[in-house]
Amino acid sequence: MNQIRQASIKRIKKDLEALGKYNSTPGQGITRVLFTEAELQGRAFIKERMRENGLEVREDEIGNIFGRLSGENSDLSPVWTGSHIDTVLNAGMFDGTVGVIGGMEALRIIGESGLKHQRDIAVIVYTSEEPTRFGLGCLGSRALAGELTAEDARRLTDSGSFSSTDERESSLYDVLERLGHDASQISNIKRNPGDVHGAVELHIEQGAVLEHLGMKIGVVSTISAPTDIKIKIQGTQEHAGATPMHLRKDALSAAAELILQLENFARSAESKSTVVTVGKVAVFPGATNVIPGEVNFTIDMRSAVMAEKKEILRKLDSLVESVSAIRRVKITKEITAHDAPADADPHIVSLIENICQENKVAYNKMVSGAYHDSMFISKFAPFGMIFVPSRKGISHHMDEWTDFEDIALGTDLLAHTLFQLSNEV
Ligand code: GLV
Ligand code: MN
Ligand code: MN
Repeated sequence: MNQIRQASIKRIKKDLEALGKYNSTPGQGITRVLFTEAELQGRAFIKERMRENGLEVREDEIGNIFGRLSGENSDLSPVWTGSHIDTVLNAGMFDGTVGVIGGMEALRIIGESGLKHQRDIAVIVYTSEEPTRFGLGCLGSRALAGELTAEDARRLTDSGSFSSTDERESSLYDVLERLGHDASQISNIKRNPGDVHGAVELHIEQGAVLEHLGMKIGVVSTISAPTDIKIKIQGTQEHAGATPMHLRKDALSAAAELILQLENFARSAESKSTVVTVGKVAVFPGATNVIPGEVNFTIDMRSAVMAEKKEILRKLDSLVESVSAIRRVKITKEITAHDAPADADPHIVSLIENICQENKVAYNKMVSGAYHDSMFISKFAPFGMIFVPSRKGISHHMDEWTDFEDIALGTDLLAHTLFQLSNEV
């Protein structure tokens, strides 16, 4: 790759490892939950590195961090890159962080090369891509798309367990205010079409497709989007020995029926991208000799095809009706997110493909099964994504791994893409 300097594997490794030190579960993977001590320290580290790299740093009302490299013509709409630094519980050190550290390195090598570029290029840390604290993902990018208002921020609450000051639940609104943000102004950060020229996110694949193909680069065509549902089943808590089978209203057995059928719905969907996961189940009272009186569980449904998610929702509704009638339990359903899949911009996709071809880098064009902040950026800007391989496809786990050489390659491609976009006038 000529002109622009090559990304430094050493610097990328050093920065990723340094960021990985901000961790509330040392020895048990990396946990950096939104606005906890570890995450705030991680934010401070990133802002400091941005300043050291000569970027102009700014934070908006929901905590999105922007590091800007000025172009020749700052009146033109900017080009964006970036990802997230918050994590799921006991995670690895690459999910999201690769797009932030790689994005900073891309801007650094563009700057160091001394080549002129027209548009400003910004690297962004989007606030809380993970739903770990407030149960909803992509908070920062969602707000930039105008889909998270101050009212929503009041409604979103945590469990209280992430607060260092007290154990009571806090709303996102209150946490932002405590940190000095004016949460009432969240709606003002909304961007409109035309405000951003183009956005490119570097991310780890989080699946094993690239590894199986023996390829180092993925070019994303579509981001599969989540629909998140909370189910509450109320049966009757009774004695496990004294209650005959025909008289029971067992909330867990009803849940089991729903869970297995949901799996069948996803298996029989046409698109391979359609998946359903029940990852969190709470059984009350949770005793061996008591019939469960209440069960709460979550459904995480994803698809690159919105119609398939709608179809599963429809099937779920009729299943809920029949299971509650037959088992005489009360089932309530709350849809907490119902996001639309996002197609990458064909122009940015072909730009990335051309850069790969010119540099003889084999790539795979692919659907992203995981969601990303780019899904919301797509509401107001054309976007593209570059994937680098995940060893054994493991992610959201402490064994998550991506080779630093691969991250550097992705960073080189990112830098070239950003540079070309920034010179489109
Ligand atoms: C994001 O981390 C996701 O769950 O896809
Ligand atoms: Mn993740
Ligand atoms: Mn991620």
